[in-house]
Amino acid sequence: MQDIIRQLEEMRGAARAGGGAQRIETQHGKGKLTARERIELLLDPDSFEEWDMFVEHRCVDFGMDENKIPGDGVVTGYGTINGRVVFVFSQDFTVFGGALSAAHAEKICKIMDNAMKVGAPVIGLNDSGGARIQEGVDSLAGYADVFQRNVMASGVIPQISMIMGPCAGGAVYSPAMTDFIFMVKDSSYMFVTGPEVVKTVTHEEVTAEELGGALTHTTRSGVADLAFENDVEALMMLRRFFNYLPLNNRERAPTRQTTDTPDRIELSLDTLIPDNANQPYDMKELIIKVVDDADFFEIQPDHAKNIVIGFARMEGATVGIVANQPMVLAGCLDIKSAIKGARFVRFCDAFNIPILTFVDVPGFLPGTSQEYGGIIKHGAKLLYAYAECTVPKVTVITRKAYGGAYDVMSSKHLRGDVNFAWPTAEIAVMGPKGAVEIIFRKDIGDAKKIAERTEEYRQKFANPFIAGQRGFIDDVISPRETRKRVCRSLTMLRNKKLDNPWRKHGNIPL
Ligand code: HXC
Repeated sequence: MQDIIRQLEEMRGAARAGGGAQRIETQHGKGKLTARERIELLLDPDSFEEWDMFVEHRCVDFGMDENKIPGDGVVTGYGTINGRVVFVFSQDFTVFGGALSAAHAEKICKIMDNAMKVGAPVIGLNDSGGARIQEGVDSLAGYADVFQRNVMASGVIPQISMIMGPCAGGAVYSPAMTDFIFMVKDSSYMFVTGPEVVKTVTHEEVTAEELGGALTHTTRSGVADLAFENDVEALMMLRRFFNYLPLNNRERAPTRQTTDTPDRIELSLDTLIPDNANQPYDMKELIIKVVDDADFFEIQPDHAKNIVIGFARMEGATVGIVANQPMVLAGCLDIKSAIKGARFVRFCDAFNIPILTFVDVPGFLPGTSQEYGGIIKHGAKLLYAYAECTVPKVTVITRKAYGGAYDVMSSKHLRGDVNFAWPTAEIAVMGPKGAVEIIFRKDIGDAKKIAERTEEYRQKFANPFIAGQRGFIDDVISPRETRKRVCRSLTMLRNKKLDNPWRKHGNIPL
């Protein structure tokens, strides 16, 4: 018996050693932790149950039959984050560069299948050279098996990808189908084909960092949701992020105790909106002042900044925040912001997270680049997402709510449950100046007349009361009491039930 136990420990030791001391040193030298060190930081102490430590690849070509490392380049299992179950895979770059073999894929599939069975999220810590080149099509099949599971799990359990090293070829498509992608600055990158291939095909010279680094994906492409300074910060933030989410689509997100009272009055909000309607203000100031403990976890803060999205809590319960940002493009909706907002709204809807929308939107961004880029179709994504969404929806119009964008931003007409306006709200087809220049075009040379007409239009439409008369907003509220009124609304809506008609699936304009 002693011998068997010793043998077992030796086998475990071999698995834990991964690709060996030298490769681990190289990994550390790049500022990266090992697969196991990452899991240790991510999960609660001593909570990790590792599976499939003894799995080996079955490849016999290119001398691979002589080159086997137990675990085969990925550490898998489950554990807890603040006491709640989560399944994890963590690719080990020290073993064949974390490349995905058939056996490696099977390990990932096993934890995904179990996560689906018990209704727990999956977190993938990705650090991989892509398909295991020696395995050929077996590796491609392995990827496809993972992709299929990503799709089946979508909207059932939260799936989160942390990119902590290279992620090339097939390795990017599994993360792309998960709900959130986070990256680590300077040590992670994602691309379909690397700089060498790019150079051959398009003759562009580009570094890996420029092509698919954290900065590229959190600013330009919007592929990644956030970037962190290093592995430790990334894993700590991931633990914090996890606390906002429910375990699956049948549960609610956990509530957190707070001493921030729901009826807190915030006097400073009364002066947030500048007197001049064309002067911007920071919508994030409003968000911070309304939510519990000024705690707002923003997603995609550096991409499509004209819309702000993220998680916060009201009376301890998670809410998804969507807000126009007047500081950027005057808060207009454009292609990128519509896509950003739509995907977030759909995540919240899939996982029972109420949506709080703050509106200050002068409309859709005009211009050829937007039209040629398909703003009609992409803008419709946000409209579609809000319209199909059945979770509680509370909306506060702070200033402009013009044109189609008024309709889109969780209006009453798209089944907004409680729609408030501040007294400064202007709910109209367009701003007074633009409106007058169209309907009184013949008077355009007469500055006095135009000024009079503009003032007349402003008096009539640039306020929340016409919408109030129609019942399109439920109340005009003082800015200072926004938190109180929103908290009450969300409490009232807690047991909201609303179903869409049966269908196989809708056809969102992709
Ligand atoms: C097998 C691999 C590998 C791979 C790396 N290694 N990638 N082994 N299959 N895909 C091994 C290396 O041989 C090396 O082994 C070790 O991992 C570390 O790799 P290095 O090159 O020394 O590390 P580094 O310089 O940091 O470069 C990392 C890298 C590079 C950028 C990821 O290794 C690389 O370009 N790899 C190939 C990437 C790729 O083309 N993958 C296939 C994509 S196609 P030793 O023993 O020396 O330590 C794909 C199709 C799937 O994924 C499509 C599905 C839809």
